[in-house]
Amino acid sequence: MINMKIAPENISTIKNCWKKITSGQQETAFVEAFYSHLFKLNPGYRDLFPGDMDVMSSKLRETLNQVINGLEHFTHLEASLKELGQSHQALKITPDMYAHVTSCILLALDTILGAALRDHEKQSWKEAFDLISGTMISGYN
Ligand code: HEM
Repeated sequence: MINMKIAPENISTIKNCWKKITSGQQETAFVEAFYSHLFKLNPGYRDLFPGDMDVMSSKLRETLNQVINGLEHFTHLEASLKELGQSHQALKITPDMYAHVTSCILLALDTILGAALRDHEKQSWKEAFDLISGTMISGYN
């Protein structure tokens, strides 16, 4: 059973970071930095994705917006994240791959927010992505 809660102060931390990104219209740059780190560190993952990453990138941006906006009521996100997990299972994405996604999200935050990013901010994002990943994986059968 996953603990479906993130501490309120960590939610504010994540939202503040995300607001810095969105108010600077840097979501696309953030998602691009994420994929660039992911494929550099895990070259084998590139072939799992379509050649043209534009549609994929906008889907990820949309999902990030939804999840970050919904962190206070995480249980409401559970069903759709489990479903997303099921479609990942069908794509042969294994549970061990999720940790790589989380670390590349942290690297992308570093790339975009740079020196502005503090340890507690990184820790909050890690907590959220561990929960998102755990929920997606709980949809696997
Ligand atoms: C925090 C975890 C993750 C989130 C939030 C996430 C989000 C998404 C979203 C929103 C989509 C689009 C689904 C659609 O087409 O409707 C997607 C597709 C996909 N994801 Fe993830 N994902 C996660 C983890 C992973 C991991 C660990 C991998 C492994 C490398 C991965 C690889 C893929 C691939 C290959 C696709 C399909 C691309 C295509 O052919 O359209 N994802 N993901």
